[in-house]
Amino acid sequence: MPYGGAVSRRPVAAIVPAAGSGERLGAGVPKAMALLAGEPILVHAVRGLVAEPRVGLVVLACPQGLEASMATAATAVAGTVPVVAVTGGAARADSVRLALDVVPDAVDVVLVHDAARCLVPSHVIGAVIDAVLAGAPAVVPGLPVVDTIRAVDPAGGSRTLDRSALRAVQTPQGFPADVLRRAHATGDPGATDDAGMVEALGLAVALVPGDPQAFKVTTPQDLLLAEALLAAAGGRGEEGP
Ligand code: C5P
Repeated sequence: MPYGGAVSRRPVAAIVPAAGSGERLGAGVPKAMALLAGEPILVHAVRGLVAEPRVGLVVLACPQGLEASMATAATAVAGTVPVVAVTGGAARADSVRLALDVVPDAVDVVLVHDAARCLVPSHVIGAVIDAVLAGAPAVVPGLPVVDTIRAVDPAGGSRTLDRSALRAVQTPQGFPADVLRRAHATGDPGATDDAGMVEALGLAVALVPGDPQAFKVTTPQDLLLAEALLAAAGGRGEEGP
């Protein structure tokens, strides 16, 4: 059932899939609740999203049992922006779909932003929204890849890809709400990102420049890097490091 409470006049809803277990991080709690500079990763992510003036609703997809505590933690930094928490699903795409179900019909633009990319700079969020409002059916931030990448085949062979043609995809990804609903109604439930599901509808995905600080906290090393970046920037804050 769509969220029926107050919605600010800001036109964008941000879905935050945060229902992953975070096994690779090994923090002993779901990754979104692992502490970074004394606060849950989720809190850093929500602080960054609501710093964008057009974000008017945050919907969290949470591990079962953590809905209330995650909503409380996120609300504390969300200012006047309402925060809604739903129980996530078995796969990331399920979590996004369940969160999308509570986004009111009046919302035109939806961002999907992994909690784990908790230091995304605001210029990336703004560029994604701008491109959706300019008419793109799907927008992703992307970065050139620095490693040489080889594609492996089932027979055990491999070949080098032309890395100048590759981009590493980040979040937030942005969509007109109706396009994202269509993608999730028909798309591959095993998809690892939403833009790929929109692409499967035959629609083009637009790229905007990503940022190295939008990296995904996945391993303990990533957490150390995030701690160092925050410390270098003088602790926590809306602007990020
Ligand atoms: O596992 P991975 O790092 O790709 O997950 C990306 C994001 O999707 C994380 O923020 C994670 O919490 C979220 N997720 C989710 N529901 C799942 C699995 C992952 O919301 N079932």
